[in-house]
Amino acid sequence: MSNFIKKIFFVSSFILVTMSACNPPEPIYVLDEAPLIPLPSSVVTSDVVMPLDVIRSVRTIGADERLNPITQNFISFWKKHTQQELLYAVDATDSNGAITFEIDKGFSSDQEAYKLVIASNEITVKGKSIEGVFRGLKTLEQLVVLSKLQGESQFLSLPGGEITDQPTYGYRGAMLDVARHFFSVADVKRYIDLLSIYKINFLHFHLSDDQGWRIEIKSWPKLTEIGGQTQVGGGEGGFYTQEDFKEIVKYAADRFITIIPEIDLPGHTNAALASYAELNCNDKATELYTGIEVGFSTLCVDKEVTYAFVDDVIREISEMSPGPYFHIGGDESHVTPEKDFNRFMDRTLAIVKKYNKIPMGWYELITAKIPEETLLQYWAKTEDFSKVIPKKSKILMSAASYNYLDMKYDSITPLGLSWAGYLPLKKAYDWDPKNLVPNLVPDQIIGLEAPLWTETIEDFDDIAVMAFPRIIGHAEIGWTNASQRKWEDYAHRLSFHGRLLEALEVKYHPATEIDWK
Ligand code: ACM
Repeated sequence: MSNFIKKIFFVSSFILVTMSACNPPEPIYVLDEAPLIPLPSSVVTSDVVMPLDVIRSVRTIGADERLNPITQNFISFWKKHTQQELLYAVDATDSNGAITFEIDKGFSSDQEAYKLVIASNEITVKGKSIEGVFRGLKTLEQLVVLSKLQGESQFLSLPGGEITDQPTYGYRGAMLDVARHFFSVADVKRYIDLLSIYKINFLHFHLSDDQGWRIEIKSWPKLTEIGGQTQVGGGEGGFYTQEDFKEIVKYAADRFITIIPEIDLPGHTNAALASYAELNCNDKATELYTGIEVGFSTLCVDKEVTYAFVDDVIREISEMSPGPYFHIGGDESHVTPEKDFNRFMDRTLAIVKKYNKIPMGWYELITAKIPEETLLQYWAKTEDFSKVIPKKSKILMSAASYNYLDMKYDSITPLGLSWAGYLPLKKAYDWDPKNLVPNLVPDQIIGLEAPLWTETIEDFDDIAVMAFPRIIGHAEIGWTNASQRKWEDYAHRLSFHGRLLEALEVKYHPATEIDWK
C-alpha cells in the first residue's frame, strides 16, 4: 500500500471507529460480571467499550488447516447475530476493526488455553493451538449472544477487558446411548453443537446394547439388518451407515469434540446374539429385545468365532475413529462367570491394542489384566472402590448419582429413572471429582463425563430436557478450577442461559432452583 492510500485507510477507519464510538451503547455487563459458563480462570475488566459495528474483518495469524472452517463458521455466526458480513482477510497486518485469530505456539503449555482481548476497536483471540483459539471463540460467542438477549437495543457493544483461561481437566465429556433408542445424524449434530458452546470436548457414543446395534459393520452385515431394526418399546430403531458415522466424527472434530465409540462387551450384547446364531454357545439366535432389563446376555467366550467377530468390529470402527480411545464396555456382565469375563477381556484388550487404541471401559474391567494406560469409567454411586482400582489407572468420573443425566430431577420429572436417586441442579453441580470417592489418588482422575441412557428418552426434546441445564454444570466442573466454583454464583450466571437455550429452541428443564431471567 502506498503511504497516501495507507493514510486514507487509517483516517477512514478512524472516522468509522470514532463515529461508532461517539455514542456507543452501554454494554450490558462489565466483563468480569458477564454470566459466562464455564467461568474463566481470569477476567480483567477495562474501561473501554467496543461497539460491535466497528468490527469489519477477521484476520488469522498462524497456520492450521482448521483455521479456514472455523473462520467460516464464525463469519456465519457474526452475520446471524449482528447482520454484518465480515471480510476474511488472511495475513492482513492491520488489526484495527478486526477480530484476530492467532495461533502462538509459545503462548501456553495447554492446548486449550486461550486469551481473549476486547479493546475499543479490535478483538484478539490467541491460543497455543487452533483448539485454544476455538475455545476462546466460544467465550466470545457467548458474550455476544448473552449481551444480545439481555439488551434492549439492536446496536450491541461488548465490555472491554481481557480473559485468560484454561481447563482444569483435559476430558470433559458427554455420553449418548443410541442403542436403547436410536437418534438421527441430525439429532447427534445438534447435541454436538450445544455441547461445544460449553467447551465439552468428548462425546462417547454407546453404539450397541441388548436392544439395538447401531453401527454398520461391513463384515457382519446382519448386525444392523437384524440387530438395528428395533429399540425399547418396539419402535423401528435404526443405525448409522459408515458414511453417517464418518460424517458425525468430522462434524464433531470441526467443533473440537472427539467421538469415542463404545461396543459394550461381553454382556449387553443381545442385539448381536439375535443377529448371528454362531455367537451364542447353543448356536441359536436369540429374540430381539425391546425391554429395559440388564445383565442377561453374554457372548460365547469359548468360541473362536467370538474373537473373529470382536476383531472385525474393533478394526472397522477404529479405522473410522481418529480419537485415542476404544470403549469396550464391560459393565453388568452378570451371566458371564468372572473367570470367563477375564479371559474374554484379556483377548479383547489385546485386539484394542492391535488397532492402536487406548482401551476404555466401565470400572468392572478391573478384574481383568488391564494395561496401565486403560481408562476406567467410574459409574457406581460413591462407594469406596479405591482398594480395587490399580493406583496407576486413569479414572473418568461418571458417578450415577451425580453425573447420570437420565436420573430424574425430582419426583415429578416425567422422563428418566431414579435408581441412583434424584439429581437436582445443585447436586449435579456442587461436588468435586477429586473428592467424591474416598481414597482415590486425585491425579488419577482425568475428568468427568455425563452419560445419558435412553430407556425413556425417545426424541431430541427428551435428550434436551434431561441434559439441559445439568450438563452445563458438568461442563463447568470440568473446566473451572474447584476453588473458583460457588453454587450461588453459578446459579446466578445460569439464570441468563435459559434465554440462550430458548433462542436455540432447546427445550430445557426450568428448575425452580434457578431465578431464570
Ligand atoms: C452402567 O450404567 N451400566 C454403566
